[in-house]
Amino acid sequence: MTSTLGKDLLALEPLSPDQIRLILDTAEPFKEISERSIKKVPALRGKTIVNLFFEASTRTRISFEFAEKRLSADTVNVAASGSSVQKGETLVDTARNLEAMRIDMVVIRHSASGAARFLAERIESNVVNAGDGMHEHPTQGLLDLLTLRDHFGDLTGRRVCIVGDVLHSRVARSNIWGLKKLGAEVAVCGPKSLLPWGIGELGVQVFKRVEEAIEWAEALNVLRLQLERMTAGFIPSLREYNRVFGISKERLERAPRDILILHPGPMNRGVEIDSDVADGPHSVILNQVTNGVAIRMAVLYLLAGGRPELAEAAKGSAGGGER
Ligand code: CP
Repeated sequence: MTSTLGKDLLALEPLSPDQIRLILDTAEPFKEISERSIKKVPALRGKTIVNLFFEASTRTRISFEFAEKRLSADTVNVAASGSSVQKGETLVDTARNLEAMRIDMVVIRHSASGAARFLAERIESNVVNAGDGMHEHPTQGLLDLLTLRDHFGDLTGRRVCIVGDVLHSRVARSNIWGLKKLGAEVAVCGPKSLLPWGIGELGVQVFKRVEEAIEWAEALNVLRLQLERMTAGFIPSLREYNRVFGISKERLERAPRDILILHPGPMNRGVEIDSDVADGPHSVILNQVTNGVAIRMAVLYLLAGGRPELAEAAKGSAGGGER
């Protein structure tokens, strides 16, 4: 059965606004399942899902695993270390061998941009991109949209600025596509060396100074400095970065309004964000993590052919309704 999303979820760029809204709306009834004492419904009973994580992850990997288990899917986790990838087996051979054991879906994180698409074009199972290099991280973009929507309602005309290492960020790309499609105004802010060439062509405003971004924005999505991807001297020092671009309580207190604070994690506290902001009253960073499970449940449910109008019923059906 072809799902309303197609075979795979590889990026937000090709999705229509209606498809994005469909995922967010489908996630709403799934939020409640995680609040139950028995966090399980049978919506994906009998499905087998492989989580192929070839790059480090805490939030995304565990969130997908919780989403799969809460929908009653059978799950297997494969990391590069300890698998035959270490012996030189290719990504496609690994996936085809898993398919020979009759799996239904693959969730993949990989350091190479395009790895998820490459795999999706070569295997029959549904593929979900859990972050590919510097390309996209669609479920992170979706959980950020859900968190913003929880706070603002309709995102049309809302002003969201993405601050920091935009150059290396798949989260920034998914956020830009998703926010623009839902009608938000989007800006980026960071050192010139960490903004991609031609970023303005994506229809975003560019701020050189973080004070200007704070003056303009209703929400800041603060990005991690991806030091592991920096091959050259992109910034003079971490201390200098914090001094010029760090999101501090003092800077936010000078804003003309309260600003919602998001961060995809993991955070470099004291570098791109200070602890009193990350843990402060306007931070929704842990709400993002909570919403991540519901978003991943919605994506898996829809890709498996689940009917969006039945998501409410799916969460209450046999064996799953106990509180
Ligand atoms: N936000 C995010 O992708 O975090 P992890 O790298 O821990 O999965």
